[in-house]
Amino acid sequence: MKKYKIVLLPGDGIGPEISEVSKKVLIKLSKKHNFDIEIIEKSFGGIAYEKYGTPAPDETLEQCKKSDAVLLACVGDIKYDSLARELRPESGLLKLRSALNLFANIRPVKIRKSLIDASTLKKEIVENVDLIVVRELIGGIYFGEPRGHITNTKIPKAFNTMVYDSSEIERITEIAIKIANQRNKKICSVDKSNVLEVSQLWRDTVLNITSKDKNISISNMYVDNAAMQLVRDPSQFDVILTSNLFGDILSDLAAMLTGSIGMLPSASLNNNGPGVFEPVHGSAPDIAGKNIANPIAMLLSASMMLKIGLNEEEAAENLETAVDKVLSKGFRTADLYDGYSEVLSCSEIGDKIIDEI
Ligand code: IPM
Ligand code: MN
Repeated sequence: MKKYKIVLLPGDGIGPEISEVSKKVLIKLSKKHNFDIEIIEKSFGGIAYEKYGTPAPDETLEQCKKSDAVLLACVGDIKYDSLARELRPESGLLKLRSALNLFANIRPVKIRKSLIDASTLKKEIVENVDLIVVRELIGGIYFGEPRGHITNTKIPKAFNTMVYDSSEIERITEIAIKIANQRNKKICSVDKSNVLEVSQLWRDTVLNITSKDKNISISNMYVDNAAMQLVRDPSQFDVILTSNLFGDILSDLAAMLTGSIGMLPSASLNNNGPGVFEPVHGSAPDIAGKNIANPIAMLLSASMMLKIGLNEEEAAENLETAVDKVLSKGFRTADLYDGYSEVLSCSEIGDKIIDEI
């Protein structure tokens, strides 16, 4: 029997609730598909700061490095906003991404048929949306040096550096090419090369690499236009390739095409070594502990983990189908309420999904 060791990071806010559901689902899938899964829970995020004085304890990072894959719920709470930057939960997340060298962040945006009316956009605009944002995750302005505050000026001043070298652009482009080749073979690279040198290097490098694969059709778009196109005609996109900051912004924008950010999974990957699989949404502290959160984005992240991280394709598909069945039967969590479906709690919708597995 295949045996996997995964690290589960429940994190903050609604994290523990949606993690409980994910654990149960993974155990059911392991029985059904004959594999053994060891789930090691570790402290990470604000909760880890409270216990150990750091959001990403070394012990947690070590366990993640030794695992087959990492399933992360979500981190953060406004109560940590006044902490020194390196102690905030978000910094812990950046440290984890960097420690595991997770340069490729994959965010699929697909409309689920039963949720077609959930979007704030017109049905005919969103019904054929099926795109993937491929976001560079450990470079660019998030990590660029120098950065900081300048204190010897009359008025407060602060700065960051948006920097890429061509090798960082090349490796994320290769990932986008690989993904595009399994889909419609269309890549739209998003930058701001009309203003930024770093974006000019991005554009030149992407064009250079993609021109070597004749199957790929490549286009370029400025980020402001891309934001507009994503709400104007989102189904024109297949694979969107972009840098860390632009990808962060555009993936939230794209998430709303589906109606709820509570539905979107993501995978953060390296060419070898464990990936981190996590929902795109945050920790929603306002609804934490109420058992009303939507666990589906985390379950779909678990499905990506099974497929990409563990090569358990059948189990991954089983889970996706189970989610679709429950939605098409009209069961919803509160965030997806449409006026006539049956609203279930986080644990209840989890149990419905388990019944379909
Ligand atoms: C995301 C989040 C993170 C990011 C934050 C929490 C650091 O917004 O994964 O998109 O900006 O990358
Ligand atoms: Mn984000």
